[in-house]
Amino acid sequence: MGINRILNHPVLGPVENKKRITFTFDGQTFEGFEGDTIASALLANGIRTLRVHEETGAPRAIYCNIGHCFECRVTVNEADIVRACMTPIQESMAIESGKVQPAPFNTPPEEWPRTYTEYEERNNNQKDGGTNA
Ligand code: FES
Repeated sequence: MGINRILNHPVLGPVENKKRITFTFDGQTFEGFEGDTIASALLANGIRTLRVHEETGAPRAIYCNIGHCFECRVTVNEADIVRACMTPIQESMAIESGKVQPAPFNTPPEEWPRTYTEYEERNNNQKDGGTNA
């Protein structure tokens, strides 16, 4: 059932009324409940490290838990890279961590856009084939 789970939430009710969902994380089988995100199901099972930092290898985990920071990226069913805090757990989902995930840009970090305006300008330049510098 998970070591960190609230068993009778004052708003959501008792967890035993929820459908149990079995999934794997790095090959190990765990159990969550309908309505769990990947992050909440893993946290309830005592799993905090979801991946490692691309450059340093430092462990990364849930940070914002509202879909903004992308620190919780995991791989699902060997294909999709998703935010664990935003993705509902599903039966037989195969979740993997620990892989070096692709960086959001193919340039060194010091060349990454610092504002959304810079990000949009970069995207527009790429669509124009780099002619709109
Ligand atoms: S914890 Fe920030 S996006 Fe998931």
